[in-house]
Amino acid sequence: MAKIGIIGSGNMGQALINGWLKTSNQLAVYSPNHGEAIANQYHIDFLHLLELTSWSDILVLAFLPQQLSKISDQISSKINSNQTIISVLGGISLAQIMEAFPNTDNIVKTMPNTNVKVNKGEIAYIANSKMSSKKLKDICNLLKNLGDIFPLAESDFETFGALAGSGPAIVAKFAESLVLAGVKNGLDRSTMIKIVSKLIIGTIKNVQETGISFNDLIYQISTPGGSTIRGITELENDGFSGKLISACDKIMASS
Ligand SMILES: NC(=O)c1ccc[n+]([C@@H]2O[C@H](COP(=O)([O-])OP(=O)(O)OC[C@H]3O[C@@H](n4cnc5c(N)ncnc54)[C@H](OP(=O)(O)O)[C@@H]3O)[C@@H](O)[C@H]2O)c1
Repeated sequence: MAKIGIIGSGNMGQALINGWLKTSNQLAVYSPNHGEAIANQYHIDFLHLLELTSWSDILVLAFLPQQLSKISDQISSKINSNQTIISVLGGISLAQIMEAFPNTDNIVKTMPNTNVKVNKGEIAYIANSKMSSKKLKDICNLLKNLGDIFPLAESDFETFGALAGSGPAIVAKFAESLVLAGVKNGLDRSTMIKIVSKLIIGTIKNVQETGISFNDLIYQISTPGGSTIRGITELENDGFSGKLISACDKIMASS
């Protein structure tokens, strides 16, 4: 049972806490303003930064990227070679984390998405090559508690971040548009939210369980000359696929 100390209790810190709460690991958190209230809310320990650093087997960096040097300056010398650092800091390289925490080789850079909160996350990771395979296996098992994990080259993290990291917002935008379409045509919002949620879950389950591709599913539903293909054609007339691809490009360009 690992002792996991989380530095930062914002959106991602809380998503990680919520995901790991369902495991048998011990959790504690520090953040300067909201940490104590968040710890109370999740019934975990609040520890001050230096206490948390010495208490933790695994220290998770879940603050804002620009705070790295301010925080590492305070705790880096207290870290020992048995401890592991997991970073979720967007845009901070593995080399930068290794430089900030030279006392340990056990360093894993990750890019989780917000769905870790409900243990359905997608998490890209890359580890310091000097980390022992035993330690890495333990960390992978810990991350698997939160969802699916993807070992990626660091150069692919930006693409992953744009698709899987920002993806929940894109899927939510798509879902909300379908809700709007139903409300426009007379169904109430709460009914539409249920219908659209089941629609998305059911469609993905269908694809996963039958092995049909997304594209083949479109043709399976589209009777030649029928109403579905008219709707799909309208989406393409308005550049639906191109718009989504350029939205992802925009996210990548600005990350
Ligand atoms: N949100 C996502 O979906 C997502 C996805 C992937 C990666 N990330 C990464 O996760 C990290 C956190 O993002 P977020 O969305 O959770 O941001 P956020 O909601 O703004 O939270 C930032 C957290 O940093 C804490 N903090 C501020 N100063 C600190 C200090 N001196 N020492 C320790 N903690 C401090 C804040 O504490 P107080 O609240 O107490 O002020 C707050 O809990 C970022 O590096 C981001 O790149 C986020």
